[in-house]
Amino acid sequence: ERGGYKHFMLKEIHEQPDVVEATLRGRVDLVNGDVHATEIGVSPELAREIRRVYITACGTSHHAGIAGRYWIEQLARVPTVVELASEVRYRDPIFYPDDLVIAISQSGETADTIAALKAAKAQGAKVLALCNVVDSAIPRASDGALYTHAGPEIGVASTKCFTTQLAALLMLAVYLGRRRGTLDEGRARETLQALWEIPNQMRDVLGDADYVHAIAKKMTHAKDVLFLGRGLGFPIALEGALKLKEISYAHAEGYAAGEMKHGPIALIDETLPVVVICPRDAHFDKTVSNLEEVRAREGQVIAIATKGDEQILEKSQYQVWLPKVRDEVLPLLTVLPLQLIAYYVAHLKGNDVDQPRNLAKTVTVE
Ligand code: F6R
Repeated sequence: ERGGYKHFMLKEIHEQPDVVEATLRGRVDLVNGDVHATEIGVSPELAREIRRVYITACGTSHHAGIAGRYWIEQLARVPTVVELASEVRYRDPIFYPDDLVIAISQSGETADTIAALKAAKAQGAKVLALCNVVDSAIPRASDGALYTHAGPEIGVASTKCFTTQLAALLMLAVYLGRRRGTLDEGRARETLQALWEIPNQMRDVLGDADYVHAIAKKMTHAKDVLFLGRGLGFPIALEGALKLKEISYAHAEGYAAGEMKHGPIALIDETLPVVVICPRDAHFDKTVSNLEEVRAREGQVIAIATKGDEQILEKSQYQVWLPKVRDEVLPLLTVLPLQLIAYYVAHLKGNDVDQPRNLAKTVTVE
């Protein structure tokens, strides 16, 4: 049942190229640079009428939501907020009838997310479920559903559901941008083409995982690990830290790279591994200067970078190389080594990777 893999988590990490492909198939129209309306769960009229997107979710799904916000604001120019579902309902939230609320949930049964979407519906907002389980509670309580096609996820730490959520959110952003006239056909086509090519690039990255194992070995005894990223690297930094915490029980923090100087820089010394997500994207120069601040304080830098980047090779102690891709699709690649690092560190420590202590796969209590 684990298909030759030692753990479900490792199997599910390696399934990501296939399930991302399955999530895109039949939805992406590469000829016209568009996404088919029938499967998106938002009518073209609604796509044009909404004035705000309000994303709510928990845990890993919340991290996907942060990437979703960047995409929706950039490509569809709709103001977007992302809120933890467990906070939404307890603070007397304000929703409008022209809000599109997106409830993201792998299981579709998370109690906090259900409560948040009910609060939104009670105030007349439209709710779209982004969900992996057909006909679960969250899509049933929503006005429309956009399904990820990740298949059942058994490992408690979410991996393949996360990357399919990212793929779905990027498709949704393109769909909204095309309906609202903020995204021209050319950029839409290039973005979708880049997304379409991602499964093969994921295969390459995952097929070459030995050096990630070697890096994980060096991190096995770390008590704290910092993850830094900027732009679309920020939610991935949060996700990398969450994965490591969940299954390796090391303390880890994900931070926006630019926020480091406002506090966490005090933690840095020669014992602290710092994972810096610094591919050649629009934020590269700024992120590299954060990397240099870490090095200046003797921190051990593990760089997640673009193949052939001499500058990074020179400035960091360890590197994971990724192929050069368009900025928009980067998170689907940058997260892969972080999932593998968490997996290997936990495994090297002898932890139960698929059933980490204190965690449940589906959280049906608030
Ligand atoms: C992390 C993890 C959790 C879930 C969270 C939300 O690996 O699995 O943080 O992401 O409990 O679950 P869903 O997406 O089912 O609502």
